[in-house]
Amino acid sequence: MAEALKYEKHLFICTNQRPEGAPRPSCGDQHGLALIAAFKKAINDKKLGIPIRTQKSGCLDLCELGPTVVVYPEGVFYGNVQLSDVQEIVDEHIEGGRPVERLRLKFGNNLSEK
Ligand code: FES
Repeated sequence: MAEALKYEKHLFICTNQRPEGAPRPSCGDQHGLALIAAFKKAINDKKLGIPIRTQKSGCLDLCELGPTVVVYPEGVFYGNVQLSDVQEIVDEHIEGGRPVERLRLKFGNNLSEK
């Protein structure tokens, strides 16, 4: 029997950092930690009353499209997430259930360009 989901929404925010001169960029060098704080604050301010977890993650292997965020259980990946995008993601996706299409990474589209 499947175990019930512990969180209604679970956000993973890449904070991976590579050494200077690494061949790929790192989300952690592009305000990854600040994004976590901003998401936590925006979600807490909403007082949605549902179990939500926001946490850092390692590399999501979308480094060139970062900073990256993934929201489960939907499995929606966002790329190039700026601090100014956080409130919109929380309002529209976390609260409203509508992913923010302008930031959404659509595999087969974005990745094939790289
Ligand atoms: S470093 Fe963030 S996706 Fe790879």
